[in-house]
Amino acid sequence: MRDADTDAVVALWHAAGVSRPWNDPVTDLAFARRSPHATVLVAADHRRILATAMVGEDGHRDWVYYVAVDPAHQGTGLGAAVMEAAEGWLRRRGIWKVQLLVRADNAATRHFYEHRGYQDTRTLCLQKIIGEAAG
Ligand SMILES: CC(C)(COP(=O)(O)OP(=O)(O)OC[C@H]1O[C@@H](n2cnc3c(N)ncnc32)[C@H](O)[C@@H]1OP(=O)(O)O)[C@@H](O)C(=O)NCCC(=O)NCCS
Repeated sequence: MRDADTDAVVALWHAAGVSRPWNDPVTDLAFARRSPHATVLVAADHRRILATAMVGEDGHRDWVYYVAVDPAHQGTGLGAAVMEAAEGWLRRRGIWKVQLLVRADNAATRHFYEHRGYQDTRTLCLQKIIGEAAG
């Protein structure tokens, strides 16, 4: 994505329902984009942002976040396309294992990922806030 895409990406995340009140999307975008180990990929039609995926490597594994497709364009292959792009970005960096978090109440999305070969690791994700978000 480009700097100028920020507002459109944030709007898409709200529309697709991937934003959460406790995550500031602008901070999340800036933080990922200034890391040499992460990026935000977008699918666009004449600069209109239609889908996104945030990818990053942590030195051990890789994570995909903010997989989102404009509601008016869901079911047209864009979700699959951004996942392909995310996996390609990671593969080119020598990564062999990728993972992502799916909220327990998002059953529909779970099927989307299983359809793409992702498996439930039966792992509990624990989290702790250890500082302020650096926007
Ligand atoms: C989940 C999401 C990213 C999928 O993107 P999409 O563009 O609608 O899906 P696609 O059209 O690319 O579908 C790709 C494949 O997955 C399948 N698929 C899509 N949604 C599915 C579902 N709910 N259940 C089962 N399969 C599904 C499609 O049938 C298609 O199969 P094919 O490759 O055999 O044709 C999109 O619907 C979305 O943005 N949802 C809201 C936000 C969200 O929940 N994001 C994930 C946060 S973890």
